[in-house]
Parts: sequence; structure tokens; C-alpha cells
Amino acid sequence: MMFSAYSESGRQEIEALFIRTFSDSEGQSEGKLIGYLVHELMSGAEADDLFGFIATEQEQIVGCIFFTRLSFGSPIKAFMLSPVAVDTDHQGKGIGQKLIDFGIKRLRELGVELVFTYGDPSYYSKVGFEHVSQEIAEAPFKLSYPEGWLGQSLDGGSLELPLGQACCIEAFNDPRYW
Ligand SMILES: CC(C)(COP(=O)(O)OP(=O)(O)OC[C@H]1O[C@@H](n2cnc3c(N)ncnc32)[C@H](O)[C@@H]1OP(=O)(O)O)[C@@H](O)C(=O)NCCC(=O)NCCS
Repeated sequence: MMFSAYSESGRQEIEALFIRTFSDSEGQSEGKLIGYLVHELMSGAEADDLFGFIATEQEQIVGCIFFTRLSFGSPIKAFMLSPVAVDTDHQGKGIGQKLIDFGIKRLRELGVELVFTYGDPSYYSKVGFEHVSQEIAEAPFKLSYPEGWLGQSLDGGSLELPLGQACCIEAFNDPRYW
């Protein structure tokens, strides 16, 4: 298994990975929605606002994660991990966890201070995330599942001081993702 930054040449394969993985786990309409999100991220986001990482096995992309910039009313450097997909036939082998660890390590090297995500706390707690209250960091949209708003500090700082309202990049400006 190889972990690396994604490159433009992998775009179609990555989009197909998200569509099929989310269709398998949550149905076709969710697969289509997340496929659209990933397409918009890869084609529309500013290069500075997006990091993508892939897991490759025998030249096939079997996992992919994206981080996009979250802005607060302060210069703090924060990104959000979403979405995450590991090919259905490759799940449960630790690929997701290793890929997230790989991406977070790269972001730390690049001086990112905070990483947030919105997902299953029982999964993301395995890679260092813990619950963040809306008083500490308010999510860009009203959350249907506030327990799933999670974060971690990459520089040893704390997530206890209020950061205010987070703003996401354009591709996430849609209440269906929240
Ligand atoms: C969620 C997902 C990314 C996990 O990837 P994976 O490679 O299968 O996960 P790993 O093998 O690294 O799992 C590591 C651990 O998390 C557990 N785990 C896996 N999926 C989980 C889930 N959905 N909820 C809770 N725990 C989960 C595993 O049992 C394993 O536990 P262990 O370390 O105690 O043995 C993958 O299953 C997936 O793509 N699912 C469909 C799309 C999705 O839901 N994406 C996440 C939301 S954006």
C-alpha cells in the first residue's frame, strides 16, 4: 500500500471511487451527491485551500481523503477533513486510519494548527479527533448531528478558547452536507 498526495491525473478515478463507495454504503443518491462534491472540490477549490491524499494498491486508487480550508475570524490555520472513502472491498484493513494519519502528518509539517471533521466519533476518535462544542468552534452550517463535530490540535495548542464561527470553502456551502 502506498500513500501519497493526489494529482490531477487521478481525478476521474477518485470521483468514481467516491461515487461507488458511498453508493455501496449509503445508497445511490448519496453516492451521486458525494461524487458531485468531490468533483467540485477538485475542479473549483483554490490550490491553497485543498489537500487530497490517496492510498494506492497495484496502481489502483483504493482510498482518498480531502482537507479543505476552514476560516475563522482570526489568522489560525485550520482545515476540515471531508470526505473520506476507502473502496468497499478494501475496508476494515486499517487503510482509512493510515491514510488519515498520513494526511494529518503532512498538514502538521505544513504548519496547520487545527483540523476539524464532521462524522462518526467512534471512528474518528481512533485518529485523534474529539468532540468540539459549538461554543468553541461554530460549524459553518447548523448541524443535523452536533455530536459529530470533531477536532484536534496539531501543534499542541488547545481547543478550549472560543474560535467563533467557521467558514468553509464554496463547495461545502450547501446544507445537505451538514
Ligand atoms: C469509514 C471508512 C472511511 C473507514 O475506512 P476503513 O479503511 O474501512 O477503516 P479502518 O480499517 O482504518 O478502520 C479502523 C478502525 O475503525 C473501525 N471502523 C471502520 N469503519 C467504521 C465506522 N463506520 N464506524 C466506526 N468504526 C469504524 C474499524 O473497526 C477499525 O477498528 P480497530 O482499529 O479497533 O480495529 C470506510 O469504511 C468508508 O469509506 N466507508 C464508506 C464511506 C464513509 O462512510 N466515509 C466516512 C464519512 S465521510
